[in-house]
Parts: sequence; C-alpha cells; structure tokens
Amino acid sequence: MKLLKRVLKWITGAILVLLLLAFLVGFIAYWRSTNDCERTTAPTSPMKAIVYCDYGLANLKLVDVEKLTPTDDQLLVRVRAASVNPYDWHFVEGTPYVVRAMGVGLRKPKDTHLGVDFAGTVEAVGKNVTQFKSGDEVFGGRGGAFAQYVCPRATRAVALKPANVSFEEAASVNIAGITALQALRDKGKVQPGQKVLINGASGGVGTFAVQIAKSLGADVTGVCSTRNVDLVKSLGADHVIDYTKEDFTKSAERYDVMLDNVGNHSLSECKGVLTPAGKYVLIGGGGAGDQGFLGGLGKALWAVVFSKFVNQQMGMMMADANHNDLTILADMMQSGKLKPVIDRTYKLEQVPDAIRYVEQGHARGKVVITVE
Ligand SMILES: NC(=O)c1ccc[n+]([C@@H]2O[C@H](COP(=O)([O-])OP(=O)(O)OC[C@H]3O[C@@H](n4cnc5c(N)ncnc54)[C@H](OP(=O)(O)O)[C@@H]3O)[C@@H](O)[C@H]2O)c1
Repeated sequence: MKLLKRVLKWITGAILVLLLLAFLVGFIAYWRSTNDCERTTAPTSPMKAIVYCDYGLANLKLVDVEKLTPTDDQLLVRVRAASVNPYDWHFVEGTPYVVRAMGVGLRKPKDTHLGVDFAGTVEAVGKNVTQFKSGDEVFGGRGGAFAQYVCPRATRAVALKPANVSFEEAASVNIAGITALQALRDKGKVQPGQKVLINGASGGVGTFAVQIAKSLGADVTGVCSTRNVDLVKSLGADHVIDYTKEDFTKSAERYDVMLDNVGNHSLSECKGVLTPAGKYVLIGGGGAGDQGFLGGLGKALWAVVFSKFVNQQMGMMMADANHNDLTILADMMQSGKLKPVIDRTYKLEQVPDAIRYVEQGHARGKVVITVE
C-alpha cells in the first residue's frame, strides 16, 4: 500500500513537472513568435500588397513591398483579380487557435501576406519553366495573392485561363472550385443518377458544387435560405430546400452523397438521411465568431470515431489544389458547363471590407478583389 502511494506521488509529481515545462515552453514560444514586419526596409522596386503584422482585421494594411522575383521554377504573374475565401479570415483572425500552434504563428502571424486565389497575366518565367510563357493569361492559387504580383511554381496550382472567362471569374475558382470537384468526384464518388445533397449550396463552394454535381449526372438537392432559392435553381439544382422553412435532416428523403459546407447538424442527424451505403463529406463549418480552440476540426475528429460505428462513410476532406484539376475546371468553364457566381467585387485597398463581408457567412457565390 505504501509502495503504491509512493508510486502515485511520483507519477503526480512527474505530470506536474511536465505540465510546468509545457507551460514554460509555450510561454517562451508565444513571446518569441514574430514576423518580418520590424525588419522591412523601403522597397527598391515596389509593388502593392496587403500585409498584416498582427492578428485581426483592423491590422490589414495596403503597403509597398519589394516586387517579387521568380525563381527558376516560378512564373511572375501580374495579378488582375483575386478572390476571398473563409480560409483567409482563418489566417487574419488566427482561428481556430489550434492553427496558431500548427505553424501559423502563436502571437503574430508568421507569414504577413494574405490571399490565395488569383488570375492574371504572366510577365516573366524562370529559366526551367516550359509550360507557360510571358503574356499567357493564367489562374490558380498561391499565398500572397492580395497583391499586384504572385510567383506560383509552374508545376503547382496554376493553369491557363480560357479566353471566354474573365479574370474575375477565373480568380474565384481555385479553392472553392477544387474543393467542390474533389469532394464530389473523389470523396463522394458521385455516379450518374445518384441523389446528392449540398448543404450550403449558395456559397463559394456550394455554387460550384451544384454545377459540378449536375455535370456528374446527379439528382441534386441544394440547401440555402429563401433569398438564394432562385439562384440555386438557376445553377441546375433539381430540388431546393429553404433551410429557414424546412430542416432537411427531418425529411424522409435519402441521399447517396451529402456535401456539407456548413456543418450545422450533428453527424447522427446527417447519417439519418443517408442511404445505407451513403457518403457524407464534411468540408468545413463554423462562423468567424465561433471558432474557439478547435473550430470545425472538432467535428472532423469526431467523424473519424463516429464513422467506425456506422455503415456509411463519414469524414472530412481537405482540398489539394493542383494543375490537373484546375485544367479540368478550366475546360468545364470553356465549354459552358461551369460558370462562377460572383457576388461582389472590391478593390485591393478594400480587402478588409471584403473579408469582413465573407466573415458574416452569407456570401452568394464568390467575393472578388480587382487589382490594378
Ligand atoms: N476542407 C477544405 O479543403 C475547404 C475548402 C474550402 C472551404 N472550406 C470550408 O467550407 C465552408 C464553406 O466555404 P465557402 O467558401 O462556401 O463559404 P461561404 O462562401 O462563406 O459560404 C457561405 C454560404 O453558407 C450558407 N449558409 C449559412 N448558413 C447556412 C445554413 N444554416 N444552411 C445552409 N446554408 C447556410 C450561406 O447561405 P445563406 O446566405 O442562404 O444563409 C452562404 O451562401 C467554410 O467553413 C470553409 O472554411 C473548406
């Protein structure tokens, strides 16, 4: 008995020491967390870019920074348009807080540049680049897209923009279009004739998803609010559920695939409207104001456990932007099968207003930044 007490005492002591150490390491890492804001000198060849030295929308500034120079494998793209995603406000706010510990920056953002999705004109290429040339009109994704120039790697998320697609439309594709495509084609494995439900059908991802699900031959149900019913119908949805009047999880209908862009229903409610072999694909959820420590990741982790106990496949998907899928989306736009929906456009200096609008969680399609 005495021995057991001593062992317990030692274990408790060891746990307390470890906790204290973890706290000290976290505390030091927090105060050492910094970025290049204090080290910046006046640019010799300037370009305009949105930067933020501290978390929070109020800290976004449009400033002159050093113009980018492409490496041997990169393109220098003069940005004509960029688009805003919830992804951007996650970085601006540093939420959910767990992402700060995952390398985004504990006290201050490590990378002070913002934006991902862009479309523009190639101004120069590195010496190893054979896929693109000066003058090409391209679109894709690269960190720091809220700026006059970006330098994507030629083999990564960049593709030629179809001539019949505007820069604004092309800039809206990368994150939202690729997420919709990969969620439905790869994770949902949508087959012609299957019933597909898209929760959050009127947002950035949803407006692409409705059109992509239709082109995969599915019978599509979109869920949105009253003011967006006509929009979702016009994108090709066979059925539209107005969530202000009807809760789709209470319906008798069963779906082969559910793409959940909102995450506002429990996993068991969603499972209840899936067919026995149905698939539930969660891509995100939670508003800018309710991220807390884990945000939508909490539900994603729960889905890993939950899916072990049910027949249906239920889980989260993270999109992987790449050249091939951008080319597929470009072809769909060129042939008229896919038309980006643009809600509003803002100028580069209005990026904070644009992000504030997307943070409200009711964008209709995409919010685009025009860059002069
Ligand atoms: N996993 C990934 O790789 C990945 C990639 C992209 C995005 N995401 C995440 O996916 C989510 C959606 O992204 P997004 O770009 O589509 O966002 P978004 O453009 O901000 O979507 C907003 C849309 O959500 C709809 N909505 C709000 N509440 C709803 C409700 N209760 N039921 C149905 N619809 C509702 C709104 O429609 P109403 O105005 O009609 O309410 C609005 O159209 C975000 O959480 C984002 O972070 C994840």
